[in-house]
Amino acid sequence: MAIERVGVVGCGLMGSGIAQVAAQAGCHVTVREVSPQLLEKGLQSLDKNLARLVEKGTLPSSDRDQVRARLRGTTNLNEFKDCDFVIEAIVELLPAKRELWTALDKICPKQTIFASNTSSLSITEMATFTQRLDRFLGMHFFNPVPVMKLVEVIRTIATDPKVFDEIVAFGAKLGKTVVRTSDRTGFIVNRLLVPYLLDAVRALEEGVASVEDIDNSMKLGCGHPMGPLTLLDFVGLDTTYYISNIMFDEFKEKRFASPPLLKRMVLAGWNGRKAGRGFYDYADPARPKPLQLT
Ligand code: 3HC
Repeated sequence: MAIERVGVVGCGLMGSGIAQVAAQAGCHVTVREVSPQLLEKGLQSLDKNLARLVEKGTLPSSDRDQVRARLRGTTNLNEFKDCDFVIEAIVELLPAKRELWTALDKICPKQTIFASNTSSLSITEMATFTQRLDRFLGMHFFNPVPVMKLVEVIRTIATDPKVFDEIVAFGAKLGKTVVRTSDRTGFIVNRLLVPYLLDAVRALEEGVASVEDIDNSMKLGCGHPMGPLTLLDFVGLDTTYYISNIMFDEFKEKRFASPPLLKRMVLAGWNGRKAGRGFYDYADPARPKPLQLT
C-alpha cells in the first residue's frame, strides 16, 4: 500500500514538523489541533520554516506553494477518514491518547496504519485502545523535525512485519535515516540520551562545574552541537522530567531517576527556552545568560 494521505494529530513543535516533512515528500497531509488558535500558531511556525528554506534557496517558492497546497489544517478528527496513515503527536498523557485512538479507530478504515510519536509511553498499551494491534507502531522523530535526520520506527510484539517494513520505507521517503527498534521505554535515543542529560544536572548539583563549563566541555571536548544543559533547555525540562519518571518507573534504575534540582526547576516553571528560563535566561534569546543555580 502506498502512503499518500497522511493525518497528523497535533500541530505543536513535533506535529507541525512532521506535517511539513510529509508534505515536502509529496504526501497530502491533514493536520489537526484542538482549537483554531493552536492550529493557527502551528501552521504559522510551519510557514516560517518553509519561508526560511525559500530565503536560503533550498526550496523554490513554487515548490513551497505546492507543499502548502498539500497541507490542510482542521480541528475535526472526522477529516482523517481517508488517511492511509495517521501519526499522533499530542500531549504525552495516556488518558488523552486513549481518547484519541478510540475515536480514530472508529473513524478510519481498517487498513489505515496508526503510529505514535511518543518518546516514552508504551506503544503496545496504546495499540490496545484500538482494534488494530497489527497495524499500530511507533514513529519517533527528533526536534527540530525538519533538521534532524533520524527517525526511530518501533514495532510491538503484535505489529505485522509488513506494516513495520512499510513505515520504515515511509521514513526513508521523508528523507530520514531510519533505525528499527522495539517497544522498550526510551527506545534507542532516549535510553542513552536521558541518563546523559540527568548526569549533567547531577554534575551541576554536585558542584563539578558551572552551567557554561559543563556545556562547553561536551560541545568543545566531544563535538556535540549543544551542551547537555542547553539541550535540556531546548527539549524542555518538563518534557525530560516527565520522560525520566516514566523510564524510572519502567526500569527502576538510578540512572533514570530525576535529580532534585531538575524537579525543583520544573516545579518553579523554569522549563527552558520556551519558558524564557531554564539553565539559561533567555530574556535576550540570541544571547542566553547562564544562571547560578546551586
Ligand atoms: N526548525 C527548522 N530548522 C531549524 C530550526 C528549527 N527549529 N533550528 C535551526 N534550524 C536550521 C537552520 O535554519 C539551519 O539550516 P541550514 O544549515 O540549512 O542553514 C540549521 O538548522 C542549523 O541551524 P543554526 O545554524 O541556526 O544553528 P545550529 O548550527 O546550532 O543548529 C540545531 C541548530 C540543528 C538545533 C543544532 O544545535 C542541533 O543539532 N542541536 C541538537 C538537537 C538535538 O539533539 N535534538 C534532539 C533532541 S531529543 C528529541 O527530540 C527526542 C525527544 O523525545 C526528547
